[in-house]
Amino acid sequence: MSSQPSSDQKLSVFVTRRWPQAAEDALADHFDVTFNEDDVPLSREALMDGFASHDIAAPTVSDSIDADIIAAGAAGRCRLIANYGVGVNHIDLAAASASGMPVTNTPGVLTDATADIAMTLMLMLCRRAGEGERELRAGDWTGWRPTHLVGRALSGKTLGIIGMGRIGRAVAQRAHFGFGMDVVFQNRSPVDDGAGVGARQLADVAAVCAASDFVSLHCAATPQTANIMNADAIAAIRPGGYLINTARGDVVDETALVQALHSGAIGGAGLDVFQGEPAINPDLLSAPNTVLLPHLGSATEETRVAMGMKVLENALAFAGGETLPDKMA
Ligand code: DGY
Repeated sequence: MSSQPSSDQKLSVFVTRRWPQAAEDALADHFDVTFNEDDVPLSREALMDGFASHDIAAPTVSDSIDADIIAAGAAGRCRLIANYGVGVNHIDLAAASASGMPVTNTPGVLTDATADIAMTLMLMLCRRAGEGERELRAGDWTGWRPTHLVGRALSGKTLGIIGMGRIGRAVAQRAHFGFGMDVVFQNRSPVDDGAGVGARQLADVAAVCAASDFVSLHCAATPQTANIMNADAIAAIRPGGYLINTARGDVVDETALVQALHSGAIGGAGLDVFQGEPAINPDLLSAPNTVLLPHLGSATEETRVAMGMKVLENALAFAGGETLPDKMA
């Protein structure tokens, strides 16, 4: 790791992973920044040191920021956690709040990119694109034939959305206007505009699963949503139905999902996020009809730069004593 020369006027920021260059440059224009030049996951000790020795910590979704790291920061210089990412389930929010350390995130700027990945997973699953690519690269393609890798159409199918926030709405709009899908959903509070697509809000997750050909998860990972797709919810998915997860691994009971996939109780799963990632449950890797991506939801240049700019915006507000635009806790 390297630190830029410090200046008395500038607050210091500890950035735990590399960002796109434009975002790093913008942050460095305003703050004394310590970047993780090697871009390797940092140890708990390195995170503690970084938190303790900087005014602002900018961790990201793959760092586990526990109460000890926050306590080390609070005992040292850290006064703000400006997370690079919208999800904050990797941060002990209660510990941050008890230490008087606000936490900000990066909402809004990754909505479209994440919705696009959910549609990518749906299309790859129902058109068997992963299977086809693997077959072709393995040299096993024997040529066109009417029965080869026949999938299913999206048009006219029903999409069930769990969590009708920004990303859920963006997926609903793509699915409805782009692919002619009907939409039903579950959301903890009432949504009275049908998400702009005439979507029907149903009573609970099981009702959405029973009514849908595709179930797509867009809820935040909180203690209330842990394993929201439990064995009962997965069993409620229609035979042949698909599960899509671009939210967080923790919202799905992976053991129940693996069983449903291996037994053929559901048609398949498209997953961008996993419990305990980057380790992947080997039974998921061997499950039929799965498309597995390495947490690519926000991975566009535009979005990743915009996420850095959001961190900058919050850090600048903090430095100026202003209201934090994206305060989570
Ligand atoms: C987030 O910001 O929480 C996303 O998961 C990153 O892709």
